[in-house]
Amino acid sequence: MKPVRIGLLGCGTVGGGVLQLLRAKGEQVVQSVGAPIEVTSVLVRDADKTRVPELDRSRLTTDPEAVLGDASIDVFVEVMGGFDPARAFVERAIDSKRSVVTANKMLLAMHGPSLIDRAIANGVDLAFEGSVGGGIPVIRVLREALASDSVVRLEGIVNGTCNYVLTRMRAEGLGFDAAVREAQAKGYAEADPGLDVDGHDAAHKLVVLAMLAFGGSVESGSVPTEGIRGIDPIDHRFAQRFGFVIKHLAIGRERGEAVELRVHPALVHQEAPLANVNGVMNAIAIEGTALGATVLSGRGAGDLPTAVSVVADVLDVARARRSGVSGLATRGIKTRARALAPMDDLKGRYYLRFQVHDRPGVLARLAGALGDAGVSIEQMVQEGAGGASPVELVMLTHEATERDVQRALGVIARSEVAAAAPRMIRIQE
Ligand code: NAP
Ligand code: HSE
Repeated sequence: MKPVRIGLLGCGTVGGGVLQLLRAKGEQVVQSVGAPIEVTSVLVRDADKTRVPELDRSRLTTDPEAVLGDASIDVFVEVMGGFDPARAFVERAIDSKRSVVTANKMLLAMHGPSLIDRAIANGVDLAFEGSVGGGIPVIRVLREALASDSVVRLEGIVNGTCNYVLTRMRAEGLGFDAAVREAQAKGYAEADPGLDVDGHDAAHKLVVLAMLAFGGSVESGSVPTEGIRGIDPIDHRFAQRFGFVIKHLAIGRERGEAVELRVHPALVHQEAPLANVNGVMNAIAIEGTALGATVLSGRGAGDLPTAVSVVADVLDVARARRSGVSGLATRGIKTRARALAPMDDLKGRYYLRFQVHDRPGVLARLAGALGDAGVSIEQMVQEGAGGASPVELVMLTHEATERDVQRALGVIARSEVAAAAPRMIRIQE
């Protein structure tokens, strides 16, 4: 039986997981594909690093040409990450009429539609299940299972590192830096963990999801994005007091001609499904006009969960190649440029925390600034001893527009009553 030959670009957390899974499930693979899968060459930067025992070190190379120039390779698996040289490698593989499997959401968010068009033009597949949700098969669900439906809304926890860090801070009282270090040690974080905690990784994933859910090709850098660095342990306590949990969310909605995409921390009601998704778990709630609501959840990062998705793609594209139908799955993906709905028009409730000096008239100044902007207060609590130290004053608003809330916060931040910059967290209903 002639094996399907794989060129593995990268052998870190995910690449190592792929090798482990292919070794452990060899028999299953043969049954599924009708041939064994053979990883013939493995590109890395450092040939001397310790790697998973499943790696045959004679296959290691640091020379891209040794892999990309090998005409006997059937499928390339890109698990290097980053933009450069990953983009050039993927394009070269596609141009040489070999299918590519990638978990690189950064690359897809920036160039997904053009890479898909390139794959279609070359009659090959570009498969990317591992790029969003780790082991959760959300790409397949959007691409295949919901092909006859119209998705109008999706919201999810799509960054395992952020969810892990927020969970460890809330449940165990761990500091931010220590929690990030743990996520790195477990293989959840990106090579640059700033991509995780500043929200960019979730924004990349949202752009990939929006491409399939709304057929939208959007400028990745223009998605309003906030990370979790500004979340203080005190915010977790206040959120709990009001019956909420803080989660880092990626949200997408159809808005007429435009599409609303945003990534930020949010207060989620403690009974809501996403509130109880903890640690490295991810969950994506999808609403279709015909199906209604559905929620997918599972391990969103790490070697083996992500490898499950990557290997599923490898099996699909290998099967397609053996059957002479390469490119069929990718041909079904249709995208068009979509404008982003302005964030200023967003309507919702808000959690506002002010650090102020406990003096007569301060509350009136805060309420006045909010009232002048048309923002109405629903609940309020004050905490702290007062005296010389500032107190924490937390308000939940009634429904307001983002524009008005930002205007009021600007006025308060510039006034002498604020001892620190106000903190705002949107409430997700
Ligand atoms: P990683 O552990 O940093 O591994 C990256 C691998 O690529 C390493 O083996 C590295 O070589 C190699 N590499 C990087 N740049 C290279 C270059 N210029 N030339 C040759 N080799 C190069 O990263 P990872 O966590 O496995 O992530 C890989 C991809 O999967 C990324 O796109 C990431 O966003 C995505 N992803 C990761 C997860 C996860 O849970 N970790 C989940 C889903 C998707 P050396 O080993 O020699 O340094
Ligand atoms: N760094 C990513 C995360 C890996 O933490 O979710 C999975 O894509």
